[in-house]
Amino acid sequence: MKICVTGGAGFIGSVMVNYLVKNYPEDYIVNLDKLTYAGNLENCKEVENEPNYKFVKGDIADREFIFKLFEEEKFDVIINFAAETHVDRSVEFPDEFVRTNVIGTTTLLDACKQYGIRRYHQVSTDEVYGDLPLDRPDLFFTETTPIHASSPYSAAKASADLFVMAYHRTFNIPVTISRCSNNYGQNQFPEKLIPLMISRATAGEALPVYGDGANVRDWLHVEDHCKAIDLIVRYGRVGEVYNIGGHNERTNLQVVKTILEAVGADESLIKYVKDRPGHDRRYAIDPTKIETELGWKPTYNFDTGIRQTIKWYLDNEDWWKRIISGEYQNYFKEMYKDRV
Ligand code: NAD
Ligand code: DAU
Repeated sequence: MKICVTGGAGFIGSVMVNYLVKNYPEDYIVNLDKLTYAGNLENCKEVENEPNYKFVKGDIADREFIFKLFEEEKFDVIINFAAETHVDRSVEFPDEFVRTNVIGTTTLLDACKQYGIRRYHQVSTDEVYGDLPLDRPDLFFTETTPIHASSPYSAAKASADLFVMAYHRTFNIPVTISRCSNNYGQNQFPEKLIPLMISRATAGEALPVYGDGANVRDWLHVEDHCKAIDLIVRYGRVGEVYNIGGHNERTNLQVVKTILEAVGADESLIKYVKDRPGHDRRYAIDPTKIETELGWKPTYNFDTGIRQTIKWYLDNEDWWKRIISGEYQNYFKEMYKDRV
């Protein structure tokens, strides 16, 4: 199969690309990424010379470019990770979220309609369900929980999901959607909670905890997320949504304290700051459907997985220091100067 992974230079997309290239040598993987500030081709270094891998720089919302690419490549499968992903940025700059997350998705769907596709998979998020109250630990998001977005980011992701389902019903495009909880693991852009707090704690800088720090996130290792998507793409039922999560709920304060302990820094670094507007209180996924239908189970235990992840950031200070300095953006220019 020829599989196009969009956003394959980002945190999760790069794990998907590396996994597919290494585990399916009979498949051909095209990594299509615009290389925004969040795209880092160093994340795909381990596969860049493999014969079943190719990188293409481009924008999923650029209709002319996308149609030309689809005509040339004749993809069998699209896995759409490409998105603007940081909630705080969406509060400041919603337009780019509409452009990439909504128009980018409809552009890909239109190209699938025009050139045909065996499977279009939309990587969505649990944030489309809104949030759950802190005093009802018995409640979880299921695939039938109503869409109820809180931020411009989640509204754009929810909107994309509605288009995906509408293209399935109206144009018979064979689609699937996955909605996963918060991911952790190596190579996450250091604007997100875990890598941000690790980089600041090691520098002895204040750790900005929003509000009271009691908000709950349901953490899943990025490799478990990608294995679930692989199962859905190969064996999931067309037209279906699958939730992905591993029942690892933690308050932000618990996560930050785990980081401080692992780094050997003092809790006095915690600084409670003004809350994120519209801040979702709790996410919690019910993964029963993917577990029973597709036999998926997470392989990582959060308490060991988070410690391994923190160790990775401590052992790879170079990786995030190159990001903070902006140096990582030269990698594409150096590596691809004779190729594109
Ligand atoms: P990320 O921000 O690390 O990476 C996004 C990637 O998309 C980058 O490589 C960027 O260059 C690329 N991109 C952005 N705009 C583009 C465009 N117009 N055209 C082509 N490429 C473009 O994001 P991530 O955390 O890896 O998330 C990937 C996907 O998974 C997103 O769709 C996100 O909504 C979803 N998701 C993320 C999480 C999480 O915890 N991070 C959880 C559930 C779902
Ligand atoms: O649930 C899946 C979603 O998880 C994905 O769809 C998003 O793309 C991804 O960014 C993530 O969204 P969150 O808003 O949950 O992630 P973030 O890392 O921004 O924040 C996690 C929690 O930590 C959240 O409650 C806000 C809080 N936080 C975050 C930052 C950056 C802080 O308290 N301080 C901070 O500086």
